[in-house]
Amino acid sequence: MPFERSPCPVGVLPSQQGKGIGSALIREALAQLRSSGAAGVVLVGDPGFYKRFGFKNLDALSWGHVPAEYVLALPFKGEAPAGEINPHRAFSQDQPSGEPLEEC
Ligand SMILES: CC(C)(COP(=O)(O)OP(=O)(O)OC[C@H]1O[C@@H](n2cnc3c(N)ncnc32)[C@H](O)[C@@H]1OP(=O)(O)O)[C@@H](O)C(=O)NCCC(=O)NCCS
Repeated sequence: MPFERSPCPVGVLPSQQGKGIGSALIREALAQLRSSGAAGVVLVGDPGFYKRFGFKNLDALSWGHVPAEYVLALPFKGEAPAGEINPHRAFSQDQPSGEPLEEC
């Protein structure tokens, strides 16, 4: 299986933050992706949050004009990912605002 583009974005209500909910959601998503046979996960997110789960910056990985520090990967097995991330169109930088999506 290829590298997956999940599990972000993740969000927790401000009133409920700091209780371990965000970490639990990420750990469960990673466990499900790992057991599905994925080679790993790539995402764009806050390194301050995601690096605690093992995500790291890889020089060879990019997503358009997103600053490199926010482009993160967590390989599960095999070779580290390289190249340009092809995001789901829900997260495309070219998505016209207000255009409805059939799936997310
Ligand atoms: C990021 C977010 C999902 C974390 O949810 P949460 O339930 O508060 O997370 P947890 O309670 O599991 O906290 C995990 C740790 O991450 C830290 N943390 C949370 N957001 C962080 C950030 N942006 N940078 C650095 N550390 C962060 C917390 O301080 C906590 O640290 P600790 O374990 O040393 O105390 C939540 O803050 C949120 O919804 N933020 C707005 C949306 C967002 O930034 N999403 C992530 C990018 S897609």
